[in-house]
Amino acid sequence: MIKSAEFVKSSFKVEECPEQMIPEYAFTGRSNVGKSSLINYLTNRRKLAKTSGTPGKTQLINHFVINNSWFLVDLPGYGWAKTSKTNKAIWKKMTEDYLITRKNLTSVFVLVDVRHKPQKIDLTFIQWLGEEGIPFCIIFTKTDKLGKNQLQSNISHYQKTLQNTWEELPPTFVTSSVEKTGGEKILNFIEKVNASLA
Ligand code: GTP
Ligand code: MG
Repeated sequence: MIKSAEFVKSSFKVEECPEQMIPEYAFTGRSNVGKSSLINYLTNRRKLAKTSGTPGKTQLINHFVINNSWFLVDLPGYGWAKTSKTNKAIWKKMTEDYLITRKNLTSVFVLVDVRHKPQKIDLTFIQWLGEEGIPFCIIFTKTDKLGKNQLQSNISHYQKTLQNTWEELPPTFVTSSVEKTGGEKILNFIEKVNASLA
């Protein structure tokens, strides 16, 4: 359960991230997928992370400390069509540096909009995480936008696609920040991992 959630700082580079070495969980995925909304839902704070209908709202590495014992990180989204090549290169360097070198990073949550067929940009990113040996989970977002059958069919299609390259599927969560569903399982997962590290 989340008892307290506080913004710590925004960093442009991994070197600027908070020094405190407590377990850290990062949320990433395509721009507009719902990262900041999910963080607000999980922490039960409407405006903790800034959300927006315009992609590219989150442009820095944002640290929040939860229950004074672990970090939750809102990363800038990738695959934002209207951004320049330079911005894309900056994003890549910033997040890859962060993901590779951040020592207390325990797990990355890759958010995927459940309405869409598997996108190359996500699959490439997931593949890269695997090659770098960075533990990750998948979170399907915006499930309120689909009916039950379509939802099930999209999720199994996604998992089948992943099974083409992965023997074992990563932990998967199914969420809606609008209907506030699926969050408890994510928090339970985090608590379990934290307990295993303690
Ligand atoms: P960037 O910071 O730009 O990378 O975006 P983000 O991934 O943080 O997305 P954000 O949380 O700002 O949400 C983008 C849009 O999707 C907003 O208009 C949200 O209201 C909407 N949204 C987010 N989560 C959900 C959800 O579960 N259901 C529905 N229907 N809409 C959602
Ligand atoms: Mg955001």
